Amino acid sequence: MYLSQREERILAGESGEVLQIAYRILLALGRLTNASRLVPIKWAHVSGVSYLTIGDYGLEFLKRIAFSSHSKFKVFTTVNPCGMDVEKWDSLGVSPEYASKQLEIISAYAKLGTASSFTCVPYQSYRVPPAGTHVAWAESSAAIYANSILNLKTNRESAVSALASALTGKTVLSDLHLDENRRPSKNLRLSLKKHERLRGSLDFGILGYFAGSQISGVIGFQNLRGLKSIEEAKALCAAIGTTGSSGMFVLHSKEKVEGIDFTDRDYEGIFEKLSDVERGEAIVFGCPQMTIEEMYSLSKMLYGKKLKKKCLVFCSSKVYESARTRGYATIIESAGATIVRDACADFTPLISVLNVDSVETDSCKGAHYMKRVHGVRVALKTTNEILREAAIAN
Ligand code: F3S
Repeated sequence: MYLSQREERILAGESGEVLQIAYRILLALGRLTNASRLVPIKWAHVSGVSYLTIGDYGLEFLKRIAFSSHSKFKVFTTVNPCGMDVEKWDSLGVSPEYASKQLEIISAYAKLGTASSFTCVPYQSYRVPPAGTHVAWAESSAAIYANSILNLKTNRESAVSALASALTGKTVLSDLHLDENRRPSKNLRLSLKKHERLRGSLDFGILGYFAGSQISGVIGFQNLRGLKSIEEAKALCAAIGTTGSSGMFVLHSKEKVEGIDFTDRDYEGIFEKLSDVERGEAIVFGCPQMTIEEMYSLSKMLYGKKLKKKCLVFCSSKVYESARTRGYATIIESAGATIVRDACADFTPLISVLNVDSVETDSCKGAHYMKRVHGVRVALKTTNEILREAAIAN
């Protein structure tokens, strides 16, 4: 991989150990992916923020980077959700031991210069650069959304490679950064009868969960109707990222490549795999985190109602502020739900703190990870179905 003279000097240690490590990471990645050179980026999105995912080893690595002299992110950098609500972790039952580690992670990222919100839907809260811009986003659901919906160019970065990109302002010019690699490698034809009209986050999550498990390259959807909202698209992207390594889809593929079908049987197979109980003891919304539109529709559905079950609603602090200003947050909280800011719905101790055997959610990614990380059983339902049963007139 070609490096400029300046890049060679940084690699040799001229600008200190942290940048040297970052360039070493990019060089290794570049060699692995046959990149011709590095390319400047406008935005890095870094994952590996919840203490539940990175643990002590990740925390020590991050501290080493953050507290070296002159360490700063070179480009606009957002970070994924952490593991708790920084302002009310105590009242939500998070242990002081967990909280202190989580706060150390947060202060390390703050020292490096991240934007103020912890979110897996960064495109909701920050201005998106023009189509074609190179970015380096970790968090599979966001990276797939960036490539497929926003037409930005990113590979599915790991926590470490996105951190290296944030520190250097560059990424490797390979894979989905190149136009020739952004064409479908396989088509997925929707051949549905019973579930013909896919509608809402749950349906698109099921489609994504199947698509991700079948196609590892760029997915070419055919005969796909619907997908009208940001919320459906984010559910589709999140589920694709959960089951495979694809980093992009094309909505209406005309590519003449091998095709596979998505049938009613496939739809029902995924549903049965993810949903193992009729009812859950608690409700979890917000994987990926809620958009402001979802907060609005939740507030409409909960207006004048009381929830019969515990309900956690995950969103970024930016979305929360906006929901509070518009009055949505008060309605949601008055119904008995707890809004959790800046945390991940799955990689958080809060699900264990609920102390339940089963949860209800509308998220396929959430169902997948809550089962694995917390050992709970899941009732997968639409938001409407969940609230029809759980919300009663006040
Ligand atoms: Fe976001 Fe966590 Fe789900 S990062 S996509 S809420 S697993």
